[in-house]
Amino acid sequence: MTVSCSDISSAMRWRSSCGPPLLLLLSFLTLLVGRETVSGFRICSYNVEKLNIDKASNYRLVQTLSRVVYRCDICLLQDVVDPDGRVVKKLLSAINRKETVTMMDQHQYETTPPTFARGPLAVQFKSRTTMMKDFILVPVHTDPLKAVQEIDNLYNVFQEVSEKWDNENVMFLGDFQAGCAYMTRPNKKKIRLFTNLNFTWLIGDKVDTTVSEETTCAYDRIVVHGKSFLKAIIPMSAMVYDFGKELKLSMSKVRDMSDHYPLEVELKSSALVKSSALLLKATPLLILLCASAFVHFFL
Ligand SMILES: *[C@@H]1O[C@H](CO)[C@@H](O)[C@H](O)[C@H]1NC(C)=O
Repeated sequence: MTVSCSDISSAMRWRSSCGPPLLLLLSFLTLLVGRETVSGFRICSYNVEKLNIDKASNYRLVQTLSRVVYRCDICLLQDVVDPDGRVVKKLLSAINRKETVTMMDQHQYETTPPTFARGPLAVQFKSRTTMMKDFILVPVHTDPLKAVQEIDNLYNVFQEVSEKWDNENVMFLGDFQAGCAYMTRPNKKKIRLFTNLNFTWLIGDKVDTTVSEETTCAYDRIVVHGKSFLKAIIPMSAMVYDFGKELKLSMSKVRDMSDHYPLEVELKSSALVKSSALLLKATPLLILLCASAFVHFFL
């Protein structure tokens, strides 16, 4: 399946007709010839806190965001409030790359009654350049007050998608709200993603994914299933990306972006990529998932 930039509006209409939560998904990749150094394949997740057209009209903010996104091969953006696609257009023009695609399939997890505030949209990918060729990403954005139940229910999502695509290489990522008052230590006993040791939490409980100095909460997480997926990940590469430090921004500029920091993790490159200097390296594959319950009020 191929989605190009021109498909944005039809993709949106398609999602809109399915009712809330609205999820917009677009992915694209660019071919760059002859990258000098071949790094890992970076997957990122960033809750951009109500990124609407007003916020996206701030030039500096969009420049910063595009620099954050540009580092990633796949980037999940959450809380993009974009009923008519204008925010996405602005972002794309700031990133200014040509698109083609790499997403193999997608699957909306749905149950009656719903078990998620925002039913996860699982996406199946194929990548030539990574050691792990076929994998599934599941964006997570829980309702804070139901975080424990929703995180536990991700196990059901795992079962459904791994069966559907006959692939157990599943990564959950996003704003789990898995910290502070929303998920405490005793709560973990009730969460199958903890009790089943086949899942590995790459972002630990002590990590602070919030921008505020008053809070230290590991709300945003990355969790992978299976040993082979784990082996395909560069050790210690899962972390919060402190773009403020790297881009030398003031705390208030960082706070203007979001109350969350972005997360990232790197997959190992395939042997083929390492051995060939003239390889076409695909980058970036950007996914924008506008997973905001808020959005449908505008439709
Ligand atoms: C863990 O994964 C292995 C290999 O897929 C499987 O055989 C085993 O049943 C899994 N364990 C649990 C507790 O799900």
